[in-house]
Amino acid sequence: MKAVVPHSRGKLSTHYAVAMPRPDDFAFWRGQARQLIQCNVSPEYVAWTEPGGSGDLFASEGARLPEFGKNAPFVRASRQFISVAQNAALHSESGRFALIYRLLWRLQTNPRIMEDKTDPDVRYVEELAKNVRRDSHKMRAFVRFRKVNDGKGTDHYAAWFEPDHHILRANAGFFRRRFANMQWSILTPRGTLHWNGKAMHEGPPARREDAPGDDPMEDLWRKYYASIFNPARLKVGAMLSEMPKKYWKNLPEASLIPELIAGAQAREAQMVDAGKSRSGQEFENTPETLPAIESAIQTCRQCPIGNLDNHAVMGEGPLSANLMIVGEQPGDHEDTTGRPFVGPAGQLLDVHLEKAGIDRGAAYVTNAIKHFKYLPRGKRRIHQSPGAKEIDTCRWWQEAERTIVKPKLVLAMGASAARSLLGKTVSITKARGTPVPLEDGSELWITAHPSYLLRLDGEAREKQARLFDADLSAVKIRLAELSTH
Ligand code: URA
Repeated sequence: MKAVVPHSRGKLSTHYAVAMPRPDDFAFWRGQARQLIQCNVSPEYVAWTEPGGSGDLFASEGARLPEFGKNAPFVRASRQFISVAQNAALHSESGRFALIYRLLWRLQTNPRIMEDKTDPDVRYVEELAKNVRRDSHKMRAFVRFRKVNDGKGTDHYAAWFEPDHHILRANAGFFRRRFANMQWSILTPRGTLHWNGKAMHEGPPARREDAPGDDPMEDLWRKYYASIFNPARLKVGAMLSEMPKKYWKNLPEASLIPELIAGAQAREAQMVDAGKSRSGQEFENTPETLPAIESAIQTCRQCPIGNLDNHAVMGEGPLSANLMIVGEQPGDHEDTTGRPFVGPAGQLLDVHLEKAGIDRGAAYVTNAIKHFKYLPRGKRRIHQSPGAKEIDTCRWWQEAERTIVKPKLVLAMGASAARSLLGKTVSITKARGTPVPLEDGSELWITAHPSYLLRLDGEAREKQARLFDADLSAVKIRLAELSTH
C-alpha cells in the first residue's frame, strides 16, 4: 500500500486509478470521491476508468487511501451538485467521472460553484445531466412491449430500446412499478432487465434480432394512434424533436407518421368544414390495458396541457385494487419522477391514509389530468388549475383506467377529480360524506384535496385535517363492507 499524506498536510501527488465496477455506479463513485477528497487528492492525480475503458499509465494500481473512520474530514457536497452529478454519471461521455470529481473538488473551496452558470465545468455537467434526463424520458415514453411466447403458456412481453446513455438500471424501478403485473424484459445493447412479476434480474447486452418484431397488438396500436392524431395540432419540428426518428423503428405507430403528416392538411380542412375539432370522447379504440394507456397518454395532445414541456404521469397500483384514489393532476415532483402523489401533497396524503388505516399500496392512485399544467416563472413552474374543458377531455383516460381496474370505491379528492368522475362541477363541502353510485357499479366518495390542507395553517388547517380524516375513515369502513360483497 502506498504511503499517504493525511488531509491537513497538503495534496497527495501519487496518481490514483479508480476502476469503476459498472459504468453507472454513482454510489461507488461517491464513496471513492469522498475518500479522495478527504485525502486531498487533486483531480489531476486521479484517473477514473470504467469497464472496458483504458487506464492511466501513471496511475498506481492498487494504491490505497486511508480510512478515516469517525475522524473523517468533512466533505462538502450540495444537494444541487449531487442531483446533477447523479445524472451526469450516467452519460456515455468517458470523462464524466473526472468532471464530477473536479467539480466536487472545487466545491470544497467554492460552495456556490454550481450557481455560476458561466463556469465551463458547471455548464458541461449540466449539459450531460440534461442529455441523460432526456434519454430517460425517451425511454419511458418509447419503450413498446410486444408479446412473446415463452413456451410455458405465460404471457411475456419484451421491448427493444437503444439508450444513448447508461440509463437502463436507473429506470428499472419506473418500469417495475408501471408494469408490476406483467412479466417483461427490456433488451438494450447496454444490458437487459427481466421482471418475472416478483423479482428483477439483469442480463448481458442484447442485439436487435433478440427482440420480437411485429405482433397482432401492433395493428391495434396503429389504429389507435391514427385515431388520436390531431392534424390541427401538427408541428412537424416539435414532433421530430419529441419523437426523434431513431426511435421510430420500435414504434408501431411510427409507420403511419409520414402518411398522417401528408394527409394532415386535408384532414384539417375537413375538420374545419365539419365545424369542430376532435375531443377526447371521439377516440375510436379505448386502450384495453394499463400499459397501453400509459404509452398512449405520453403522446396525447387532445388539450393544450400536453404541449407544455412535461411528461404524462400514469396512475399506479394493483390491477385488482378495490379502491381507486383520484387527484387533480401531477405537480412538479410527479412530472419529474413519473409517479403520482410523491410531492408534498402526496406525502401529506400518505400521512392521513396511514392514520385512517388505508393501505396506499393496495389502492390504485391516479389523477384526473395526466399532464402537469403550469406557468413558467424563471426556473420555477407554477401550478395552474385545469379548466373544465381540459378535465372533460382528459376524463377519457380516467374512465379507461377505471374500466380496467374495476374498483369498488372511488375516492375523488378535490373539485377537478369530482368533475372528472361526475362530468359536472360540485361543491366539495356539499358533496363530501355522501356516496354517489357510478354507472359502472362502483361508489364515488368525494373529499378535499390534500394540497388544500397544505395551503391552510393554524386552526383552519386543523379543522380541515379533521374533516379529511373523517372522510378517509368513512371510506375505510365502506371499503371493508364492499370488499365482503
Ligand atoms: N396533486 C395531485 O392532484 N396529484 C398528484 O399526483 C400530485 C399532486
